[in-house]
Amino acid sequence: MVSSRQTHSILVLPSESCSKMSIAVLSSLGRCGFLAFRSPVGLVAVRHAQTAAAPAAEPRIKKFQVYRWDPDTPGDKPRMQTYDIDLNTCGPMVLDALIKIKNEMDSTLTFRRSCREGICGSCAMNIGGGNTLACLNKIDTNTSKPTKIYPLPHMYVVKDLVPDMSNFYAQYKSIEPFLKRKDESKEGQEQYTQSVDDRQKLDGLYECILCACCSTSCPSYWWNGDKYLGPAVLMQAYRWMIDSRDEFTEERLSKLQDPFSLYRCHTIMNCTKTCPKGLNPGKAIAEIKKMMAMYKDKKTATA
Ligand code: SF4
Ligand code: F3S
Ligand code: FES
Repeated sequence: MVSSRQTHSILVLPSESCSKMSIAVLSSLGRCGFLAFRSPVGLVAVRHAQTAAAPAAEPRIKKFQVYRWDPDTPGDKPRMQTYDIDLNTCGPMVLDALIKIKNEMDSTLTFRRSCREGICGSCAMNIGGGNTLACLNKIDTNTSKPTKIYPLPHMYVVKDLVPDMSNFYAQYKSIEPFLKRKDESKEGQEQYTQSVDDRQKLDGLYECILCACCSTSCPSYWWNGDKYLGPAVLMQAYRWMIDSRDEFTEERLSKLQDPFSLYRCHTIMNCTKTCPKGLNPGKAIAEIKKMMAMYKDKKTATA
């Protein structure tokens, strides 16, 4: 369908200037598309233009197949529900599509989101077969195939796309993710300074937003998630081990000395591949293993 749009420009010339205006000026106004007439306030010239608006774009219908499960509906079984969205009326990211579904089509669809800019980590889910953040993931504009959306894999599901993060957070808490000093008598009285070089060692580690995309992409974590800490939590353990201000490095290493917490990592590297922030938890785990070897040697030597 083609529609047209009309626009008007109005020019008012006061009576004094109007009286001086020549016939030539009036006729040149006419050539410029103005319709000129006299009024009590002076000469009024109105320009009338008609422009054709762009033809309405063809709808680009994309199918989104979304995992649904409602624990509050007795007997409800997990299923996939399909939603058709016209990409012409939707933002570019998968989170935009989910918000559109929730706002305009089905308010029962449940998912987490907050910042919509890759900072809070709450919109982590499995999209098109990979763990990622819905707010950073562009919609695949190929309308011939549907985009499938599941919750993070191998997690208990609270509802629809919302995974239960309790175990993940408990594991994070277990590594004591905060600065620890032997002597805390000066706490709050002076800064614990750090050299520029030591500060740089934390780059690539502190940026983690704890979205759990990496841990839930790791087969070792799938099978031993109760005992193996997983890449996200281990990378944060490493972040505190190498912080020059922290004085509990050996104790932190000692806590990981069992067959599961650390050593269930078999260098599969799904974690690094999937991290939506471009971090490298697989490398951090390898560094912990190196530190652990030195720590064990030292312990044997002093025994
Ligand atoms: Fe998410 Fe990356 Fe941190 Fe893993 S390392 S929790 S994928 S930001
Ligand atoms: Fe898993 Fe990454 Fe290790 S995928 S096995 S944590 S390197
Ligand atoms: Fe915060 Fe996606 S909404 S990371």
